[in-house]
Amino acid sequence: MRATPIGQPVDRVDGRIKVTGAAVYAADNKPAGLTYGYIVTSTIGRGVITGMDTAAALASPGVLAVYTPFNPLKLFAYVQNQNDESAPPLQDKEVRFHGQTIGFVVAETWEQARDAASLIRTTYQQQPPVTAFPGPPAAMEKADTDAEGPDTVLATGVASVAQAVAAGEVTFTASYSTPVQHHCAMEPHATVATWNGDHLTAYTVTQGAVLSVRRLSETLGVDAAKIHVISPHVGGGFGGKWGNWAQVPLACAAAKALGRPVKAVLTREQVFTLAGHRPLTVQNLKMACTADGKLTAITNDGITSRGFAGSWSESVANWTLTTYASPSIQVTKTIVPLNLGAATVMRAPGEANGSFALESAMDELAERLGLDPLEMRMKNYATFVPNTGKPWSSKHLDECYRRGAEEFGWSKRPKKVRATVDGDWLVGTGMGTATYGASRGLASIKVRLSADGTASVSGTAADLGTGQYTVFAILAADVLGIPVDRVRPELGDSTSPTAANAGGSNSTCTNGPAVQVAAKAVQTELVALAVTNPKSPFHGKDPAEVVYRDGSVSSGGLTMSFGTLLTTCDVGSVEAVGTSPRLVDPEHGFRSFGVHFCEVRVHRWTGEPRVTRWLSVMDAGTIINVKAARSQIQGAVVMGIGQALLEATEVDQGTGRFANGNLASYLVPVHADIPPIDVRFLDHPDPLISGLGAKGIGELGIVGVAGAIGNAVHHATGVRVRELPITLEKLL
Ligand code: MOS
Repeated sequence: MRATPIGQPVDRVDGRIKVTGAAVYAADNKPAGLTYGYIVTSTIGRGVITGMDTAAALASPGVLAVYTPFNPLKLFAYVQNQNDESAPPLQDKEVRFHGQTIGFVVAETWEQARDAASLIRTTYQQQPPVTAFPGPPAAMEKADTDAEGPDTVLATGVASVAQAVAAGEVTFTASYSTPVQHHCAMEPHATVATWNGDHLTAYTVTQGAVLSVRRLSETLGVDAAKIHVISPHVGGGFGGKWGNWAQVPLACAAAKALGRPVKAVLTREQVFTLAGHRPLTVQNLKMACTADGKLTAITNDGITSRGFAGSWSESVANWTLTTYASPSIQVTKTIVPLNLGAATVMRAPGEANGSFALESAMDELAERLGLDPLEMRMKNYATFVPNTGKPWSSKHLDECYRRGAEEFGWSKRPKKVRATVDGDWLVGTGMGTATYGASRGLASIKVRLSADGTASVSGTAADLGTGQYTVFAILAADVLGIPVDRVRPELGDSTSPTAANAGGSNSTCTNGPAVQVAAKAVQTELVALAVTNPKSPFHGKDPAEVVYRDGSVSSGGLTMSFGTLLTTCDVGSVEAVGTSPRLVDPEHGFRSFGVHFCEVRVHRWTGEPRVTRWLSVMDAGTIINVKAARSQIQGAVVMGIGQALLEATEVDQGTGRFANGNLASYLVPVHADIPPIDVRFLDHPDPLISGLGAKGIGELGIVGVAGAIGNAVHHATGVRVRELPITLEKLL
């Protein structure tokens, strides 16, 4: 029996071409006659454009066109919200944020386009931008929480959750806030558009080729069947490449208008203003529990920003509905529209911020009661989904807690804060719970067996550096019984069968089962060929007597590899499309779980916080590739360390400009900020999500990280910071 590659540490199948520069990213495409577009952005935060003098730009060398709201490319309004700007660029003269698209210059070279853009003179009628909350009379929109299940759970005999909180034996109230943050994926947003008659080919960054097609179809007014999006490699996304940002429709529409291919790449500064951000949030938490630490009621009133330019906002308080058992829970959502670009999804939207508040508060409450933080969480362990009462499909969080505590040495933790000093460093430890929703969508995948003995697996999925290519290769190799290196996964092409987009930690749980179905179905096709093709040695046999195993077809005493069989039959390949349906299970709650334990050192004289030890124990169902999965969690923890200690996009309150909107001044963690990150997986398959048993891991790893760090900082110093990021001046 061949050993299954599932669960083994498999090297990324796309690793070599990525590190050698052979992988083709959107901006690498250079069709003949390529021209270059440069986006012109607003220099005010709110107002109306009264004029744009483009004469000098138009007269500038190499310039082919200058598009502005006075001379726009025709773009139609979007129908469906996909977390990007809700209005296409250049269609009106209103400025909704600083750094908004107000023009698009196309020239023979990028330098010419950029230079010409600098010659445009724009006049505005300015208004003061609304850039913070509560904000001078900032509009507050009461909004639907979009919770899965009810957002209010009321224990019997209780009039309101607020009353249940007030009546608690022990009560606790606190507000937690988080700043604007940015995805900062390595690869900036890029699109190369080329038309052949009325057919468009767009090489573009995207977390899902079909998402991009649908959005382009709407805004260009072109039938989706005439749009081909190609995006085999994406250099990081984290939610920031879910939508089609301005460079996508502009490049495509300009290429059509000019009859030449157009390439548009956002500058790093433009990525900050034009490609979305994690919104500002505040959570006003009120909790009540018994004297021995059993939660009796929680309210969490979440406030979140959205851009005037976009419609999406974060449901920041919802994590409180599904994490700890409490007989009464209520969360609310209030939206404050701001003149700050579009808020959009960023890794674990809502939950990364949401968990910071609740994980901090659980520790604050535990401390008040004299309880160990882990004991506090076990006392309130949710054996059913708290807001729906449904059983979980699978949940082994208690095992994560036990195993993590043991491996981390949690029992040796001093109960008192500021109890451990090592030279100039105050040492503390903390923990945080991670949970993230799991689901399985509809996906189709094509598997093709070729005469050269290889198999290809294709679907419109995206690999943002997540390891999706390798997941495809492993699962197909497993079902086909051939080595992983004989499988060629093909992702990111909108003409492939429609598979899951890379978002919502949904790729592997959705696409994985479809790969399995397709890899099984192609065996049937191969056997059918074997018995019907006159050149086949199995010709005329009963298909029931011909078996496929480990890459070969056998019957009687004869065994032949599929490559040899196809060659013998003079057939290039056989293929099959497999479809795995959307999971409909209204009876259960589906989530991935985990826990983070960490050690933080805070310099006693400078206040500098450093994370020095990390252990994450994750319960995410079947792990397909333990190597890439570990990387996913490590990457998420790194991002969480950034969220906790470094990352904040500072808004200049007078102008609405992002003061540090570039990689020189927006701090992301570097190697020196990151300790070794130990990751363990429990690897208990989820029996209900699919036969494969895999839940999501992409976003799970960042949830609970900021809370764990805040708790460790507090343990080290006695200082509780409720406003992210936890920077040194807050610890002095
Ligand atoms: Mo993710 S924030 O669903 O890309």
